[in-house]
Amino acid sequence: MNLQLATTPLNEAACDWLIVPVSEGFEFNGRLGQLNDALGGQIGRLRESQDFTAKLAETALIPAPAGIRAARLLLVGLGPVEKLDEAGLNKALMTAARAASGKKTDRVAVAVPSPGPSRLSLGRCIQAVATAMTVGCVGQDLYRAEKKRFPFENVDLLVEPGQNGAEQKAALEAGTVVGEAINLARELVNQPPKVMFPVSFAERAQNLARQHNLRCEVLDQAALETEKMGSLLAVSAGSDQPPRLVFLEHNQAAAGAPVVALVGKGVTFDSGGLSIKSNDNMLTMKCDMAGAATVLATMVAIARLKLPVHVIGLMGLVENLTGGSAMKLGDVLTARSGVTIEVQNTDAEGRLVLADVLDYAVSKGADRLIDLATLTGACVVALGEDVVGAMSNNQDWCDKVLAAAKAAGEDVWQLPMFGHYDELIKSDVADIRNVGGRWGGAITAAKFLERFVKEKPWVHLDIAGPAFASSDKPHREGGGTGCMVKTLLEIVKG
Ligand code: BES
Ligand code: MN
Ligand code: ZN
Repeated sequence: MNLQLATTPLNEAACDWLIVPVSEGFEFNGRLGQLNDALGGQIGRLRESQDFTAKLAETALIPAPAGIRAARLLLVGLGPVEKLDEAGLNKALMTAARAASGKKTDRVAVAVPSPGPSRLSLGRCIQAVATAMTVGCVGQDLYRAEKKRFPFENVDLLVEPGQNGAEQKAALEAGTVVGEAINLARELVNQPPKVMFPVSFAERAQNLARQHNLRCEVLDQAALETEKMGSLLAVSAGSDQPPRLVFLEHNQAAAGAPVVALVGKGVTFDSGGLSIKSNDNMLTMKCDMAGAATVLATMVAIARLKLPVHVIGLMGLVENLTGGSAMKLGDVLTARSGVTIEVQNTDAEGRLVLADVLDYAVSKGADRLIDLATLTGACVVALGEDVVGAMSNNQDWCDKVLAAAKAAGEDVWQLPMFGHYDELIKSDVADIRNVGGRWGGAITAAKFLERFVKEKPWVHLDIAGPAFASSDKPHREGGGTGCMVKTLLEIVKG
């Protein structure tokens, strides 16, 4: 897909689709006035008849519009301009991109919304358009002969004269890189578990690392045994697929800069193990490596954007199955850190994987950590399908993550980490057990992880709800969502 900035007036843009975002209570001045005039006042009539009032993500399609050069005009509402934020802008643009990508298209032109009284800068608007156009036209139909979505060949971002300088070009480039990273995360999640398993994921990571100049180390079964990662290895034991740990490093920071670690849960399929899941609950469990996919995609974007930071990315990759060597209830595992863990539910495997990977991240020099994991159904019960749960041992670091999420337009909500929750994961035979009982499941999972971060500032992001969408919506495709890629980049940029 080719994206470029252009200063063509809207009525003169020759394209298959002309996408024009419009704020509620819009006035016909400037570019919109010129477009409305060329159309003989058609947009004004749509408003009078209440067929288009520019509510957030509302659309109106005008096929074969007379008086302009576009084959179709798609108006998309932005809602009240003073309320417009990153999330709203993204929703509107994604809706438009998805509406325009249902059939093969050569050229799409998008009028970049001028920031006006909203709090968004022109650069942010350009970046948001580039990202949404890149993401919105890519589907989850990887193995369908009859595709449902068709990537655009060319996208022109229409800006006002003088708004196509170096700064705006950089915003366009950044938006494209972010969009491609989100698509990478989505694709990794959408691949069937037969295609995406620990070894194949690690190979993909290695190839991407080579391509984008990331330092990469892959730990195989023998290396993980040498590292004494008894917790991670116990999860992997029930599968014929050997485990992997992928370590990536990007260092373009001044000496002495803090090392940020991004750690991802990479359970390429979660059957639940011997505490086996029902068919319904297992159905989407190819998504259980979404944390690892997010980390890999974000590391690629960090490298492509050449951010002046020092970031390491770690992915713990295993399959959770029920083979003859599978861990059993009552087993006691010794984690890399030496902490002993009583297994009381083999379906609480994500925390067992992350325990060793977090511990390893700290020993690799992490000063601050963020982990991403499709960790608990309890988090989905608490917050719903579209909100990420955040849990932390350090409020300053957590506040940075929450602020970055806000700027990125992603919904994240903090859950408490009171000391008394620690009681719930005590064991009679080992230091801790891997479940905390019926209540507060998202938090007891986080309390478990906290034991392995050596008191370094750490935020745990439970993405069990938002990482995978069970159905399509006008503004997003079902399947892997690529959630938190934007937020992580925002955090890393600082
Ligand atoms: N991968 C699941 C969590 C999950 C649930 C992810 C729904 C995405 C959607 C995790 O490994 C799991 O099975 N957690 C258990 C923990 C329980 C046994 C303490 C759960 O949430 O039921
Ligand atoms: Mn599980
Ligand atoms: Zn899991």
